[in-house]
Amino acid sequence: MSQHLFLPVVIMAVSPMPGAFQDSAVSPTQGESEDLDCGRPEPSSRIVGGSDAHPGTWPWQVSLHQGGGHICGGSLVAPSWVLSAAHCFVTNGTLEPADELSVLLGVHSQDGPLEGAHVRSVDTILVPDNYSRVELGADLALLRLSSPAELGPFVRPVCLPRASHLFAHGTACWATGWGDVQEADPLPLPWVLQEVELRLLGETACQCLYSRPGPFNMTFQLLPGMLCAGYPEGRRDTCQGDSGGPLVCEDGGRWFLAGITSFGFGCGRRNRPGVFTAVAPYESWIREHVMGSEPGPAFPSQLQKPLSGPWEPREENCTFAQPECGKAPRPGTWPWEVQVMVPGSTPCYGALVSDSWVLAPASCFLDFPIQQPRTSDSSPQDFETWRVLLPSRPEEERVARLVEHENASRDFASDLALLQLRTRVNLTAAPSAVCLPHREHYFLPGSRCRLARWGRGELAPGSSAQLEAQLETQLLNSWWCHCLYDRQGESVPPPGDPPHLLCPAYQEEEEAGLCWKDSGWSLLCREEGTWFLAGHRTLSNGCLRPRAFSPVQTHGLWISHVTQGAYLEDQLTWDWGPEGEETEKQTCPPHTEHGACGLRPKSTPGGVLWPWLTEVHVTGDRVCTGILVAPGWVLAATHCILRLGSTTVPYIEVYLGRAGVSSLPQGHQVTSAPALLCQTEGGPWVLVGMAVRGSRELFAAIGPEATWISQTVEEAHFLHVSGSSYWSPESNDPCPQDLADSASSPKVAALLLLLLLAILIPR
Ligand code: ARG
Repeated sequence: MSQHLFLPVVIMAVSPMPGAFQDSAVSPTQGESEDLDCGRPEPSSRIVGGSDAHPGTWPWQVSLHQGGGHICGGSLVAPSWVLSAAHCFVTNGTLEPADELSVLLGVHSQDGPLEGAHVRSVDTILVPDNYSRVELGADLALLRLSSPAELGPFVRPVCLPRASHLFAHGTACWATGWGDVQEADPLPLPWVLQEVELRLLGETACQCLYSRPGPFNMTFQLLPGMLCAGYPEGRRDTCQGDSGGPLVCEDGGRWFLAGITSFGFGCGRRNRPGVFTAVAPYESWIREHVMGSEPGPAFPSQLQKPLSGPWEPREENCTFAQPECGKAPRPGTWPWEVQVMVPGSTPCYGALVSDSWVLAPASCFLDFPIQQPRTSDSSPQDFETWRVLLPSRPEEERVARLVEHENASRDFASDLALLQLRTRVNLTAAPSAVCLPHREHYFLPGSRCRLARWGRGELAPGSSAQLEAQLETQLLNSWWCHCLYDRQGESVPPPGDPPHLLCPAYQEEEEAGLCWKDSGWSLLCREEGTWFLAGHRTLSNGCLRPRAFSPVQTHGLWISHVTQGAYLEDQLTWDWGPEGEETEKQTCPPHTEHGACGLRPKSTPGGVLWPWLTEVHVTGDRVCTGILVAPGWVLAATHCILRLGSTTVPYIEVYLGRAGVSSLPQGHQVTSAPALLCQTEGGPWVLVGMAVRGSRELFAAIGPEATWISQTVEEAHFLHVSGSSYWSPESNDPCPQDLADSASSPKVAALLLLLLLAILIPR
């Protein structure tokens, strides 16, 4: 954040700075005392993305305590009056009793003895009649102290703006408080008051940012009496616990309370600036309630009229901030891919997640003898010999710190470590950081994903990392993923809670020679052109299908807590489809040994609906449908492959996972009609017949060929429709009777052909 240059202001009781007291010409309005000097901190001197304030910089800042702890901030506006937020004191429509509250004045650090601070109890809490919920505005409250505060260098009131006071958008103002430093990340000890510079956003710009779907698909309507401050790119903001506290802007040497921290969506998120209660519109409400108190709050008039009013469209174009992470112009060449080199072991692949942090599997470093204690406080010399190699950078980076996930050694899903670089990297096209998902990020089924190297493993001979990284795969529906992953019969947790596994579509790595022996992969998924580190896996149990990845989103809190600046990004694609479809509880169909036969994803937007359908390309431009019956076997109609009288096998190519999706090459024609499939009661689909030559309605039954097929293809699975012999027309076949009837024909073996796949050609 930019440095807060606080210029000492000399307090002059009689002769103020030139021009400063044009104010005195203005006759004091009712309730205003001219004796009360406001908005001038004595020169003695988080809020998200902020820094420690100097003691005495913000002497109007108070801390409101309830039950012994800080609940909200507030601003001293007169010796007996504090202005705060209504939502701090209203629960379920009822105002909390004032006697449970105490006001701490002149506090800097809330840890230990509160030197120079003093406490007041609260007499009365006043809340506007029209306050109901924060999103509906009027979120302010006046607290009357039981006895006046003792004003001094650390306790002074802030100035209040008149209703006519204009705070121009673009003005740099400051917010202060003891609130969380990130979402769900409390201010660490010694709880020093945080300050952050925020820019005022005009109504148009703010409404524009909020009208773009963001976290939880939510948008929001900015109302009169609210104001926004922050940045389209986020990262600096107020957060939980800052509420009620001040947003102050300087004018002619005085600080005015422009806003009261009210709410936001998350903290510091992109396109989600903080929302404040605008104080100026409440001038009369405040005056009315403080009437008669001496001295009351001061409402000095504005000295510097902004050149442009907040209604003018200057800087008010509607530009959303784009993520500053996850850009890879050439997918497969990842600008965040780093290699951590520890002497005596093979390099470990990880990902750059900010300008100074690398995320990698902890198992890369667990075996390595690191001097004790290996905690987050490991001294820098432990890593003297470690080096980090970043893409497009000849120099090697040094490591300052290693923070292992506390469950790293116990739990595969937590096999993560964060390495801090000694010097911050200048993030450009390369190196750049990958985006990380927030906890509530829903990677949608059908998302485009790729694999990237992860961890220390080596490729099995004949494998090519390059090839693997080039492969685009699609994310499976999480229910589907769960079922495939062989957790038969269990009830499936709703996918967003968060998911336990992420599965990209079935890949035949074994046959393709891409079997991953001791290596890990990370799963990168793309949304609107931005890559997210969605999953990681270091589990080296050979060639498990489908590959299952541990979701990274569950670790967002840990990552943000450690790094204080990793790129956690909101979900960018919002098409969640019919509501609740994904979240309803489902039971997996009975499993098979491979866990995968006959199962069909419920829906994959633009994807493959019949994952066993293959395109069999035969020389001579014939294309027919084949059925994947086992990882290495495709069943096709004989007439499609062999020409009458010919006994030589032509050159055949089988394309998987694209039947019906891609358009066929020119001159190719589908010569075979598709297969006949019936769904069993348990869910999986069973191949019942293959179309006979020249027909789209007559099918050669597969049933009679079960023996031949099972003898040839050991791994083929035979499921019975409704528990009885599925090909018998007499059985209670779930298929329409006329189709089931036509699905029997003698001498089928002559019509069917099994193709043993040499290599499965990925798309
Ligand atoms: N409502 C919060 C509180 O009670 C303040 C949240 C401000 N959030 C933000 N993103 N600006 O402390």
